[in-house]
Amino acid sequence: MTAEPLEIYLEQQDVERGLREDVRAGLTAEAKWLPPKWFYDSRGSELFEEITRLPEYYPTRAERTVLAEHASDIAALTGAKTLIELGSGSSEKTRLLLDAFTRRGGLGTFVPLDVSVSALLASTAQIAADYPGLRVRGIVGDFTRQLDRLPTGGRRLVVFLGGTIGNLLPAERVEFLSAMRTALEIGDWLLLGTDLVKDPSVIVPAYDDAAGVTAEFNRNVLRVINRELGADFDPAAFEHVALWDPDHEWIEMRLRATRPMSVRVLDLTVDFAAGEELRTEVSAKFRPAGIAAELGTAGFTVAEFWTDPDGLFGVTLARAR
Ligand code: SAH
Ligand code: AVI
Repeated sequence: MTAEPLEIYLEQQDVERGLREDVRAGLTAEAKWLPPKWFYDSRGSELFEEITRLPEYYPTRAERTVLAEHASDIAALTGAKTLIELGSGSSEKTRLLLDAFTRRGGLGTFVPLDVSVSALLASTAQIAADYPGLRVRGIVGDFTRQLDRLPTGGRRLVVFLGGTIGNLLPAERVEFLSAMRTALEIGDWLLLGTDLVKDPSVIVPAYDDAAGVTAEFNRNVLRVINRELGADFDPAAFEHVALWDPDHEWIEMRLRATRPMSVRVLDLTVDFAAGEELRTEVSAKFRPAGIAAELGTAGFTVAEFWTDPDGLFGVTLARAR
């Protein structure tokens, strides 16, 4: 089967307006910041895929190990008719679930949703070709704003993998889980991947790899702003910083100005002092009790919690109650 044309929840003008608003808010703040969703143009999506193959970046491999072990359980327990994937990217690990559902029978539709058009075009074409009989409906959308528009009908399993929930700030996470619960019916399922708290000597290199791929991924947000908003950032003048914050239990990516700079963007002149940092991402790490508590507060009951043998990454299967 060929993939259906992408459904667009997010028009180009909405994307540009969102970027302008975020740039204005983040770059005029006392401590400068940008939200991580702007990393993911086609180059950013490619760089993320490269990150997943780095020796230092353990989350993808660890989560794949869990899914390989438990995909059949997930298919049997949920008996889902529709599989919705948020922040789907390449959907590479999701194939383990699609394989299990194919063996079991009964899954009719796969709905990957992402802000990255390039990632969706590639993944939907390949998955439609590889899973004949499966309806593949790719959606260009923002999971922080558009969960109320998810497809309805049939028992649904929403999967949110990779630990991407950790890229939301705590208040955004509460809002996201609550919107997720509102979007689901009692009895629908959520499969949530979360990177776990561990020794920072394991975490930090995953975000500061020797080959410099994560540094390029980090700087890519400046290239996106240059291209989309005609700004004049010099990406080479910013160095990549990955810092473990033990109080929040998250890793923070920042871009540090290596010299004083004035950047023109929109109608703003944004000054950077030498050494000034711009926060581009947090990536929270979780403890099992915290995951269960956040899901419980949002109206989910945890059915299963699995980790890889090294206890690096957690996958929680929860049900809307
Ligand atoms: N799930 C994949 C990809 C993770 S990378 C994996 O586990 O490997 C994060 C993905 O989320 C990217 O594809 C990015 O484009 C997407 N994304 C980031 N912010 C988003 C948002 N607000 N709405 C929808 N997709 C988003
Ligand atoms: C998508 N997300 C879960 C990744 C993470 O690990 O937080 C993004 C990333 N940032 C740096 N490397 C990978």
